[in-house]
Amino acid sequence: MTLRTKTGIAGLDKALQGGFPEGNMVLVSGGAGTGKSTLCLQFLVNGCKEGDRGVYVSTEQNEAELSKQAASFGWDLQSLIKKNQLKIVFYDITGSDNFLKHLEMVVQEFKPKRIVIDSMTTLTDSMILGGITEHDAFSMVQIAESVSPIPRTEQIISKQILYQLLKALRKYKVTTLLTSELYEEVLRLSADGISEFISDGVLLLSYLGVGQSVFRSIRVRKMRYTDHEKGSLVYQMTAKGIEIKPQELSL
Ligand SMILES: Nc1ncnc2c1ncn2[C@@H]1O[C@H](COP(=O)(O)OP(=O)(O)OP(=O)(O)O)[C@@H](O)[C@H]1O
Ligand SMILES: [Mg+2]
Repeated sequence: MTLRTKTGIAGLDKALQGGFPEGNMVLVSGGAGTGKSTLCLQFLVNGCKEGDRGVYVSTEQNEAELSKQAASFGWDLQSLIKKNQLKIVFYDITGSDNFLKHLEMVVQEFKPKRIVIDSMTTLTDSMILGGITEHDAFSMVQIAESVSPIPRTEQIISKQILYQLLKALRKYKVTTLLTSELYEEVLRLSADGISEFISDGVLLLSYLGVGQSVFRSIRVRKMRYTDHEKGSLVYQMTAKGIEIKPQELSL
C-alpha cells in the first residue's frame, strides 16, 4: 500500500486518492497570484496537525512576510515555529550559500516530513545569473556552453539541481513541493520546461478573470505512484486558505 502525505485540502486529497504518495517531489506551477505559496503554507500547516514537521525554504518572502500572509488565513506560523514543528529558511539568492549542502544539513537536524521550496524558479535563475556555487551545476553549464552555440543553461541547471535534490531528499522520505512560475501564455508545465519531466508530480494552478468574476482551477497534471483525478478542480481562496468546491469541472 502506498503511504500518503495528506495536503489537508479535502477536495485535493480526494483527487489524489488520499494525498501525495509519501516522498514524492511535486511541482506546483502557476501564474502570478494563483495561490502557489498559499497552497504550500497550507500543506505545511496541515502537516503540523498530523505531527509532520515542515520546512519552508523561501527565496522571495522572508519569515515576517510569510507569517503575515499566513495570518490572513488564520494560521499562526510563529507558534508552530516556537513548538519546533515548522522552520522557515529564507534563502538569500544574492548570497553565496551552497544551497543543497545547507538544505541537507537542515533536513538532517530538523528531520522534516514535508519540505517546500518557493520558488524553484528563482533558485535556478539565481544560479544561472552568477550566484552559482553548486560545482556540478557550474561544470554542467561550462560543458553545455562549449557544446552548444545556444546554451540550454537554464534547463540544464534546473535538471542538475533537481537531480541533486532528488538524490539528497529521497533517502529521507520527505514529501516536497517546488513552486514554478508560469507566464500565462506559455504552454508548458514549468518555468524551465524540464522539471515537469523529472519531478514525481505536477499540480497546475490557473486563474481566469471574466468581468468581475474570478475563476480559479487546479489540475493534477501528473502524479507518479497513484491514480488521480484528471479533470480540473475549481477552488476558491477564502479566509481559511484554499478550498475546493465540491463539484469538479472536467475541462
Ligand atoms: N486572506 C485572503 N483571503 C482570500 N484571498 C486571498 C487572501 N490573501 C491573499 N489572497 C489571494 O491570494 C493571492 C496570492 O496568493 P499567493 O501569494 O499564494 O499566490 P502565488 O501564486 O504564490 O503568487 P506569486 O506568483 O506572487 O508568488 C492574492 O493575489 C489574492 O488574490
Ligand atoms: Mg508565491
